[in-house]
Amino acid sequence: HMLVLMPLPISSELLTLKQSFGNNPSPFPPNFLFGTASAAYQYEGGYLSDGKGLNNWDVYTHKPGNVVDGSNGDIALDHYHRYLEDIDLMASLGVDSYRFSISWARILPKGRFGNVNLAGIHFYNKLINALMLKGIQPFVTLNHIDLPQEMEDRYGSWLSPESQLDFAYFADLCFQSFGDRVKYWITFNEPNFQVKFGYRVGTFPPSRCSFPFGNCTDGDSENEPFIAAQNIILSHAAAVNIYRSKYQAKQGGSIGIVVNGAWFEPISNSIADKLAAQRAQSFTIDWFLDPVVFGRYPPVMQSILGSTLPEFSKTEKEMLKKGVDFIGINHYTSYYVQDCMFSVCEPGTGTSRTEGLWRQNSQKNGIPIGEPTDVEWLHVYPRGMEKIITYLKKRYNNIPMIITENGYGEVTKPNSTIEDSLQDTRRAKYMAGYLDSLSTAIRKGADVRGYFAWSLLDNFEWEFGFTRRFGLHHVDLKTLARTPKFSATWYKNFIAEHANVK
Ligand code: NOJ
Repeated sequence: HMLVLMPLPISSELLTLKQSFGNNPSPFPPNFLFGTASAAYQYEGGYLSDGKGLNNWDVYTHKPGNVVDGSNGDIALDHYHRYLEDIDLMASLGVDSYRFSISWARILPKGRFGNVNLAGIHFYNKLINALMLKGIQPFVTLNHIDLPQEMEDRYGSWLSPESQLDFAYFADLCFQSFGDRVKYWITFNEPNFQVKFGYRVGTFPPSRCSFPFGNCTDGDSENEPFIAAQNIILSHAAAVNIYRSKYQAKQGGSIGIVVNGAWFEPISNSIADKLAAQRAQSFTIDWFLDPVVFGRYPPVMQSILGSTLPEFSKTEKEMLKKGVDFIGINHYTSYYVQDCMFSVCEPGTGTSRTEGLWRQNSQKNGIPIGEPTDVEWLHVYPRGMEKIITYLKKRYNNIPMIITENGYGEVTKPNSTIEDSLQDTRRAKYMAGYLDSLSTAIRKGADVRGYFAWSLLDNFEWEFGFTRRFGLHHVDLKTLARTPKFSATWYKNFIAEHANVK
């Protein structure tokens, strides 16, 4: 039987607290979701607990040299055992939703080649039920980068169309097991980055890369990112198809996909630079969104890449047209983009295929696009939020959008104390600026339904290990004690002031 969602209690005392930043009365629509986001590998730990199988990140992080501080997610934040404590933290923030991912190998240790691990299903049932008892909606990502190592070993995961069968099997199991209570599903988190880092730069498993990046091993091919992307897109479509035909009418939820959506600002007003920014957008974001919304790749990719870009068959196109109910956007930062196609510019970013099409940079004449942070790719440019939302609103006909991640990262410096970490006014300022910009986009008509802060806790930041902290709560890496930072209190007050629960 289903649990009934209770509206969040908001105390009158909190309602009278004014947020300390931003002066726009933010017009977040009724039932707008305010939440925090996380991911299984970055949080759970319990890497061999209760029958979980090995995933690609378990294997990758255990190889020396792959993670800067030599750490791994074996224990991570031990969320697997401490989820009740973490839900209490969420409840005290007053969030009404929690975005988390399901560890594929925890419920299917060998993918579709082995048994369902009931203990794994049990863990997510406990997590979901405990969230709902506190009035917090589960917002579930099926794939947040990790997958059973079995898929990698047997057939090279995303490089093989077999991956589509595995993902469909996994998705079906999740809808069937949790769909009575989960009303928001995300198929993939940032497939654009999974493909970039896994198959182009080589810093994510399966560490493949295309010339001229990284340590390419023999046999890696510069077309791999496009093949992996194709299989991910078709896996997404298979899951949506299953949800629509078997579950949606009965369960009444919605399903979407999440892309990393940086904003690309033309470095000048020239037509060439504007076209370059559009190309950058298409080659990184529309690459995944055009197929899942329109059933085809972006026209500019088709004309530039020609036969490098795989094709969708007629049936695949039909399946893709089942569409998405919402687009999730992880937005953190913006870049300047300069043309390299019609004018010569120094080699910069891009795949070997896109090298020579544009160059992206955080600076223009030595001046950063926004305040730099400890994290080299992260510059504080709040207007980028409004710009990317407005871009997507136009391109995809104002399909409902959700900010599935936004947040500020810091690097722990030698000698820095926990107090330094707790006084994170810069994080609160960052969020205030971006939320203000988001509210401007909404006021101008963008259909945005929610905002998730990355992240509830400091966590395992992939190849950077525990050196980068994005949490609203500090985590002591020895004791795993959680302590709210200034930003947690700030977000709590912001939600109390702006949540409009019907
Ligand atoms: C996006 C990813 O989804 C998440 O896993 C990562 O930790 C954050 N960005 C911060 O880099």
